[in-house]
Amino acid sequence: MSYETILTEKKGAVTLITLNRPKALNALNSQVLTELIDAFAAFENDESQLCAVLTGAGDKAFAAGADIKEMADKPAADFLKEDYFSGWTNDIVKKVRKPWIAAVNGFALGGGCELAMMADFIIASENAKFGQPEIKLGVAPGMGGSQRLTRFVGKSKAMEMCLTGRMMGAEEAERSGLVTRVVSADELLDDALRTAETIAGMPPLAVMINKEMVNVAYETVLDQGLLAERRMFQVLTATEDKTEGMKAFVEKRPGNWKGR
Ligand code: HXC
Repeated sequence: MSYETILTEKKGAVTLITLNRPKALNALNSQVLTELIDAFAAFENDESQLCAVLTGAGDKAFAAGADIKEMADKPAADFLKEDYFSGWTNDIVKKVRKPWIAAVNGFALGGGCELAMMADFIIASENAKFGQPEIKLGVAPGMGGSQRLTRFVGKSKAMEMCLTGRMMGAEEAERSGLVTRVVSADELLDDALRTAETIAGMPPLAVMINKEMVNVAYETVLDQGLLAERRMFQVLTATEDKTEGMKAFVEKRPGNWKGR
């Protein structure tokens, strides 16, 4: 599939996906969604690709939200019939088992903030601004904003942000646990790509299980999460990569991963 609204590039074992509608501050319309689903599926199915980075073109925005111009005249019945934007959750979050990082430059608002929160983690530039301003449009978040933001930053901040539409700057986002770190705008992409390369250099099965287990922590009670984690640890001890990884440690050399 050739893309018009996103760019994709393979950099070694890392796929870089760039939202590419800078004039519209990378607003997320249906075409972006279709193309992103395809790009994430290609990444997931390509055995040479082990980690991805998602960012926004231009220096102003990661994504300033779902495309308001596309939604403005759309009848409510169509939103319901299409199950509008359900593909974010079904095809991007659930089907992608390999890790991906959101590198957030500038605005991440509404659906843009929600898309960033679907990533496995977020690295932000100093000029990043996060927010759920849907209330100002007479609606509410529809792609996880009220749910994921609350889990990241707690009820008080999430409630205030959803009720007032106020934006959170990068420093506050780091302090509140929304992003893993803040770097300068110039450094952002290099930092995210370097981090992705580090992950791509890890044993692939262990990467997959670590991602699943951290996500389980969000979806279950502690006892069940601890049991699932222990079982997955025990399963991983049966892999060739575990034998190699522990042998490599003892022999003081890097591991040579097979993904089995
Ligand atoms: C469509 C958008 C857009 C959006 C910006 N643009 N955000 N187009 N949808 N979400 C367009 C503008 O119309 C303008 O195009 C161009 O991008 C530049 O934007 P400006 O407003 O001129 O820039 P600036 O003055 O710097 O203000 C930046 C901004 C503002 C503060 C980010 O653009 C803004 O408030 N955008 C809307 C943010 C928002 O409400 N997002 C939530 C959307 S709802 P033209 O052609 O005029 O130059 C949502 C719901 C998700 O995401 C749930 C769905 C299921």
